[in-house]
Amino acid sequence: MTDSPFLRACRREPVPHTPVWFMRQAGRSLPEYRRVRQGTGMLESCMRPDLVTEITLQPVRRHGVDAAIYFSDIVVPLKAIGVDLDIRPGVGPVVERPFRSRADLDRLRPLDPDDVKYVTEAIGMLTAELGATPLIGFAGAPFTLASYLVEGGPSRNHEHTKALMYGDPELWEALLDRLAVLTAGFLTVQIEAGASAVQLFDSWVGALSPADYRDRVLPASAKVFRAVAQYGVPRIHFGVGTGELLGLLGEAGADVVGVDWRVPLDEAARRVGPGKALQGNLDPAVLFAPREAVEAQAGRVLAAAGELPGHIFNLGHGVLPETDPEALTRLVAYVHENTAR
Ligand code: CP3
Repeated sequence: MTDSPFLRACRREPVPHTPVWFMRQAGRSLPEYRRVRQGTGMLESCMRPDLVTEITLQPVRRHGVDAAIYFSDIVVPLKAIGVDLDIRPGVGPVVERPFRSRADLDRLRPLDPDDVKYVTEAIGMLTAELGATPLIGFAGAPFTLASYLVEGGPSRNHEHTKALMYGDPELWEALLDRLAVLTAGFLTVQIEAGASAVQLFDSWVGALSPADYRDRVLPASAKVFRAVAQYGVPRIHFGVGTGELLGLLGEAGADVVGVDWRVPLDEAARRVGPGKALQGNLDPAVLFAPREAVEAQAGRVLAAAGELPGHIFNLGHGVLPETDPEALTRLVAYVHENTAR
């Protein structure tokens, strides 16, 4: 398993072919996912080891991807410590009472592994089934979690979040620190249960300038990466719209930097600097075009990656719900065939 193409690429070692997996590969576009999820809410599904195992394995079986990603959601650890929230279909996470004042800090305590026994159980089942295919654990980064908590749900402009960040920097720092501890705890549980790599999703951090990211957010994300460094598993860091932040995303402590489709990988490599692997970066909307166009665009991603040591092929963001699963299967085969060494 440590010799799998995915883990080798994370360590920037030579690979037999470029490894591929897709953010949000579990769930979303798969009919077999919709079938097993029928009648069970999203959060409830995340707490059922049998369902988590089945849903995590579905894209591995169907597409032949080089890694599995644990089926869960970034708000699961918040729910596990008692924050009153739900995941609404077609909307996303919604928090009953948004975080707005210092008194709200009391609602955020560290995670106790017993809060998420179902995670440990599911990962045990998964690693047995996955054999040599690595399992990626994940968590939401402090900024992205803070955005859901402070806004109370999905947000385009993150106005309440930024009002808190600029208006009460001390409370902001305390909030991000609590979220860093929670996130580190959630990743630790997954690694100790058997995850071979972890990804920190800071999906919405592209909303910040480099200076604000460096001063007001990076320290909390760096704390998360430091907390799991001792395990030696690759740490992946990803956000959307982060062209101007790529260097800082690496500096926060990642081994692999995820890149969205707006920056070609050769340019991303210059911005990230030496010593890091890169993950990405086909525009997920390209998968709606005919096969030849998908392959032409995937070919461009591979060409931009060139002979970089350490490229993990992925989309520039998650699989879109209406994506034809066959297009994903064909894309995996295309990348494998065109990078065979
Ligand atoms: O990658 C995978 O396949 C593993 C599963 C996974 C889910 N959420 C399952 C899910 C992962 C890695 C996530 C991460 C996540 N959740 C992120 C970061 C990744 C990203 O896309 O930027 C974010 C921002 C969230 C918050 C969230 N949860 C959103 C925006 C949504 C989608 C709302 C919608 O329906 O459009 C969710 C719900 C969610 N998480 C679903 C799944 C499969 C859909 C729920 C359903 O099928 O009913």
